[in-house]
Amino acid sequence: MALSTLLSLLALLPAALAIKPRCFEFDHPVHVSLTVPTFNVPKFSNSYESTAFLTASVSRNANLSSLVTGEVKIDRAFKIHFQYCEPEKCTRAPDVLQVLSHGVGFDRSYWNFGDSEYNYIASTTGHGYATLSYDRLGVGFSEQADPYSEIQVPTQVAILAEVSKLLQHGKLHKRISKPKKLVHVGHSFGSLITNGLVAASPSLSDGVVLTGFSQNTSWTPLFELCLGFELARTNNPARFHGYDSGYLTWGNEYDNQCAFYTYPFFDTHVLKQAERIKAPFAISELLSFASVPLAAPNFTGPVLMLSGQSDLPFCGGDCTGVLEGPASVSPFVFPSAQPFVSYIQPNTGHALNLHYNASAAYEVIHGFLKEHVH
Ligand SMILES: *[C@@H]1O[C@H](CO)[C@@H](O)[C@H](O)[C@H]1NC(C)=O
Ligand SMILES: *[C@@H]1O[C@H](CO)[C@@H](O)[C@H](O)[C@H]1NC(C)=O
Ligand SMILES: *[C@@H]1O[C@H](CO)[C@@H](O)[C@H](O)[C@H]1NC(C)=O
Ligand SMILES: *[C@@H]1O[C@H](CO)[C@@H](O)[C@H](O)[C@H]1NC(C)=O
Repeated sequence: MALSTLLSLLALLPAALAIKPRCFEFDHPVHVSLTVPTFNVPKFSNSYESTAFLTASVSRNANLSSLVTGEVKIDRAFKIHFQYCEPEKCTRAPDVLQVLSHGVGFDRSYWNFGDSEYNYIASTTGHGYATLSYDRLGVGFSEQADPYSEIQVPTQVAILAEVSKLLQHGKLHKRISKPKKLVHVGHSFGSLITNGLVAASPSLSDGVVLTGFSQNTSWTPLFELCLGFELARTNNPARFHGYDSGYLTWGNEYDNQCAFYTYPFFDTHVLKQAERIKAPFAISELLSFASVPLAAPNFTGPVLMLSGQSDLPFCGGDCTGVLEGPASVSPFVFPSAQPFVSYIQPNTGHALNLHYNASAAYEVIHGFLKEHVH
């Protein structure tokens, strides 16, 4: 966009947006080296085949382990797209940097959604933190790697680990100085990646916030059935025409609502906007969902797990007794966390940031981090 167009657009923005955080974006190649399983999934040639695959994978005789045929080594760099933000009026870099990992169906704009009401980054920088959000591999401006093999949960965890190492050494970008503390915040699938990170590499994080999450994956099929598996490129040719057939999405805004929202606790314009900017997911990400270890006995930092009361994918529609209580595994996943705290955000579904009252949930997060990370 030409600078003059940009300036005239800026002039049209309401005053509230003028005090946005100071941000910049960049790409960086992130090198990872790991071994991942190979899956025996025939490439989809249309949405009938991908839908049939979904039906088969949630049927009572399904056995996803039987799809694994071997393993393959990944040893290369992937282009990842980042956005760094800091408080507008800061003279030196904030002590605490929050690394934000978004979930399925979104890109990094999940953290930066619309005006201040839903905008996590604006709220967070307002509290004096710096943030680094990024498009997950395969999403947004990050590389469209092979969705049948390369884009798996362990790959995403390895990318987050490498990014965290670079940040700890002040080497990700010349304008991002070494933070005193690195905190990791996830939503949904991004929480899974974040949990996997501190399970594998506890020294890479000084604090963790897992939103829209639990370690109980019993209800994943409900989520998948709400979504449906359409080829992204046929669902929305205008946006996804060049995408490989292994990139999937759901049908329409009502499927989106079914999986991510609890009526009537959201603004339907917000849902429509989320639908307009939705991001595809890769088939091998879903197949590798349960493939990284989550138990983090050596992580001694603070952990906050915060989910919407009616979260469908991770709580089966009711988080009471899932995040904590006798049937919950979460405290055992983080036995050494100092402390482990769970919190249920009332009147909220899975897309926590996009329900009414999201900004009050942000205050719960900031309050926790102010108390436990300094
Ligand atoms: C699922 O498939 C794996 C690998 O083929 C096999 O070892 C396992 O016994 C199967 N499980 C069931 C319940 O059939
Ligand atoms: C998931 O939660 C349900 C209900 O609280 C419980 O019965 C089940 O054992 C849990 N499963 C796992 C793997 O934690
Ligand atoms: C935790 O640390 C101990 C001691 O360093 C090590 O033996 C163990 O493998 C670690 N456990 C995990 C799950 O990383
Ligand atoms: C809004 O969220 C805050 C923080 O979780 C909570 O205390 C309050 O009850 C919520 N309000 C409503 C109307 O849900």
